Amino acid sequence: MANKRQVYIETYGCQMNLADTEVVLSILADAGYGQTTSLRSADVVFVNTCAVRENAEQRIYGRLGDFRRYKKENPGMVVGVLGCMAERLRKDLMQSESHVDLVVGPDEYRRIPELIEAAINGERGIAVRLSRVENYDDILPLRTEGISAWISVMRGCDKFCTFCVVPFTRGRERSRSMESVVREVEHLGARGFKEVSLLGQNVNSYHDGQNDFADLMAAVARVDRSMRIRFMTPHPQDMSEKLVRTIGENENICNYIHLPVQSGSDRILDLMNRTYTRGEYLALVKKIRTMIPDISLSTDIISGFPTETAEDHHQTLDVIREVEFDGAFTFKYSPRENTKAWHMGDDVAEELKSERLNDIIDVQREISLRKNGAMVNSVCEVLVEGESTKSANDYCGRTDNNKMVVFPKGECEIGQYLDIRIDRVNSATLFGTSLGLSGRQAGHSRLAANA
Ligand code: 5AD
Ligand code: SF4
Repeated sequence: MANKRQVYIETYGCQMNLADTEVVLSILADAGYGQTTSLRSADVVFVNTCAVRENAEQRIYGRLGDFRRYKKENPGMVVGVLGCMAERLRKDLMQSESHVDLVVGPDEYRRIPELIEAAINGERGIAVRLSRVENYDDILPLRTEGISAWISVMRGCDKFCTFCVVPFTRGRERSRSMESVVREVEHLGARGFKEVSLLGQNVNSYHDGQNDFADLMAAVARVDRSMRIRFMTPHPQDMSEKLVRTIGENENICNYIHLPVQSGSDRILDLMNRTYTRGEYLALVKKIRTMIPDISLSTDIISGFPTETAEDHHQTLDVIREVEFDGAFTFKYSPRENTKAWHMGDDVAEELKSERLNDIIDVQREISLRKNGAMVNSVCEVLVEGESTKSANDYCGRTDNNKMVVFPKGECEIGQYLDIRIDRVNSATLFGTSLGLSGRQAGHSRLAANA
């Protein structure tokens, strides 16, 4: 029998892209391809790309430059660009001098095997149509063994924040059926996965015709109470009371919400088309905390959006201080062609963007350090996720509210829930000592035990 053709794939950007790569690998496995981690021995080389910010695209272009070398050594190698950049830069990528053979957008992954065949026969291929219905509902993603899995439950985005390219690169919102998501979670549970993250660009606007996102979360949480459920990324506008209640009621839905605010200035929020005011966002946070007092919150913030003044920036710092997020992902505004904000110009100087970004990071770091400091001497339940990246003697894992904890390996194993006493902290990580298995091992929930 001829050897299987081998695919090498690198993934950039958000978790949705990681999930998409698993869909692509599944489609390719069905078509008889194997996966390789060696570029040199690959027959097909793909990058699954991100177009959210300019610097991501620059990095990927650099990587494509590297692939040119490999292709010189191995001229039969097929090089393909998948994902958001494929949508945005199809013309550039398909220029005659380009060494890219395939350009495939996020809704056309089913055509990849056919396009590879064509490329092998010397025909370069492009497939970038966006679909209103494609959700890969029937494809079981090809996952490597592990304890944590992501499941993409909806695709696309209809919010059209003015800075964001996603509605153009990933198209309109569409949701998978609740039944198929639940089936996938059952399958993961049977394989020993301990944590699933439900993913969507705008995950809480999920609706399959009958069930909304709260229904989906409740159904997924019921599958296996010893499994942790996470989700990202919700939009504040769709953060219903029903959803907050569902998070609070289900002990295995993690006590953590990533809730992007983007800016603390009403004027900027309006220009961003975020559909809420600062006051509405703060009221939402208050409501969430009234319902779930110990919930952890994190956020996304953009510095240097067009026309942002020092006053706007200070309002952002104020919101960070007022909410006291547990963490923040911060970005310098990056103009994206064809978005509404693109036409507003990019009038905040680069140095000012960096200065403001650093202010934001400093304020947040202090808050994170204070909040983490309050956890010293407390005992947290941690799911052991793997070896610490910094020390082979330590494991790492997260608490229910998404704090990373590092602790000596001792007797424990990956996939166990442990009680860890926190000994010391910095703004990003907690360090602790294992006190042994936590109550959850027995497979029943804390909720059931308390009820
Ligand atoms: N520039 C900078 N940051 C952006 N994001 C999205 N688009 C841009 C852009 N053009 C950020 C937002 C979003 C996160 C995923 O990326 O904060 O929530
Ligand atoms: Fe982009 Fe806004 Fe949609 Fe998020 S909600 S993907 S930031 S348009």
